[in-house]
Amino acid sequence: MEMGDHQKNLHHCRKRPRFAESLCLLLLSLFAISASARAFDYADALTKSLLYFESQRSGRLPYNQRVTWRDHSGLTDGLEQGVDLVGGYYDAGDHVKFGLPMAFTVTMLSWGVIEFRQQIADAGELEHAMEAIKWGTDYFIKAHTSPNVLWAEVGDGDTDHYCWQRPEDMTTSRQAYKIDENNPGSDLAGETAAAMAAASIVFKKTNPHYSQLLLHHAQQVFEFGDMYRGKYDGSVEVVKSYYASVSGYKDELLWGALWLYMATDKDEYFKYFVHKAHCFGGTGWAISEFSWDVKYAGLQVIASKLLMEEKHKEHAHILEQYRSKAEYYICSCLNKNNGSNVERTPGGLLYVRQWNNMQYVSTAAFLLTVYSDLLQNSNQKLNCHGGMVGHEEILTFAKSQIDYILGSNPMNMSYLVGYGANFPARVHHRGASIVSYRENKGFIGCTQGYDYWYSRQETNPNVLVGALVGGPDCQDNFEDQRENFMQTEACTYNTAPLVGVFAKLLQLEDPNLLASY
Ligand SMILES: *[C@@H]1O[C@H](CO)[C@@H](O)[C@H](O)[C@H]1NC(C)=O
Ligand SMILES: *[C@@H]1O[C@H](CO)[C@@H](O)[C@H](O)[C@H]1NC(C)=O
Repeated sequence: MEMGDHQKNLHHCRKRPRFAESLCLLLLSLFAISASARAFDYADALTKSLLYFESQRSGRLPYNQRVTWRDHSGLTDGLEQGVDLVGGYYDAGDHVKFGLPMAFTVTMLSWGVIEFRQQIADAGELEHAMEAIKWGTDYFIKAHTSPNVLWAEVGDGDTDHYCWQRPEDMTTSRQAYKIDENNPGSDLAGETAAAMAAASIVFKKTNPHYSQLLLHHAQQVFEFGDMYRGKYDGSVEVVKSYYASVSGYKDELLWGALWLYMATDKDEYFKYFVHKAHCFGGTGWAISEFSWDVKYAGLQVIASKLLMEEKHKEHAHILEQYRSKAEYYICSCLNKNNGSNVERTPGGLLYVRQWNNMQYVSTAAFLLTVYSDLLQNSNQKLNCHGGMVGHEEILTFAKSQIDYILGSNPMNMSYLVGYGANFPARVHHRGASIVSYRENKGFIGCTQGYDYWYSRQETNPNVLVGALVGGPDCQDNFEDQRENFMQTEACTYNTAPLVGVFAKLLQLEDPNLLASY
């Protein structure tokens, strides 16, 4: 039984006259029993999802580091270039620090906290969520060494992938790459501005000085990206086979302006978002993918929220165009568009593509949850080609995707590592697959790691708790093998959108709801 049906029945009972109450209570307890058989512990999932970011930390680890199989690494990053680039996150199972996906990760963590702050706080995880964000933003501040210089990447995929080592033993190149006036990167600048602006909202009350600092950097980085236009993969060629900016930079410039508007309330950013809506594709692109590369659906959903506010009435016609594209995205996830819908596996999982499909599932679950809240708060319904949809139906579908992730799927597998009894045990991750540095400090070389640790059949010695792996194929099949990186590698931007959604689902499950009946 899905949570949504459970909820509806609860409401149904509440409206009944008194004489039916005892029957309702009986039914309720039956529902509770059948639901509990498949209920998921979202509090546990939330806690674990935040632990994952500690596993991905580069730099000097703090005294309160909870993931204890990791140790300091990358302590000379930037040294050759004369800049301090120590810190930040490794993006996935390797040790390259890629600016674009790192910034998107931080934007999504921040957006999650902005939307679901109370729920995350109620679960006792707000501090950890803010630490996860700050680990990224501290690095972005370092990487933004002057108004028109932003360091884009440390290490490179080709030499990094030649080795299978723990981050603590790393011997590969730590060449760093930057964008500047002569080597533009508007997509990277736009996303980094978005990340810092969104994070500045998160820290506004608790750390106003830091919040201001982030805002200052965000504004400068945005201005730089807007003034010197170009795709960052044209300037930083080594990123091309890993995180090429296929969608270009226009989505990130709109996205950066939008987050700066949210953070500052300044008209200039709103005007940018409105005036460039058409020529930057914001009101033109209808896309069923929201990812580190393609931001349109995200900014279209936020535009739909702005439309609800009286003060944006003057530009309602543009915001409505944005919203119609947001509706396209939501309806396509719900399988209710005319023809163009996101595919699903037989087990019901949204399926966009073979390699790391889960990243699209987690961003979809996030946008669906935000959109459901938007409809509920404005007392509206969504009009899809396939019919009118209420906020409960959207949230129920988002929940079905999350429950699939946590184990409600044909493999009975939790794709969130470390959650439940059955989860991927051979995650494609250098650090997790080799004995912990804290246990065994003997140096493990580049090919030695491949020969001994990568190729063995045994499960990983360290559990990468909270990581969302790439996930199953289009037939719900999953092969838990280290070399199967399309399915068993996890990325920071897979887990980031889940944090807020877990907190929201946890709130729905609040036992007080039943107790107060
Ligand atoms: C739905 O799609 C079909 C095929 O593309 C088209 O002929 C039809 O007009 C569309 N219906 C609506 C209501 O848009
Ligand atoms: C998953 O669990 C169900 C119910 O317990 C069982 O029938 C099915 O065989 C399991 N599938 C796999 C792949 O283990």
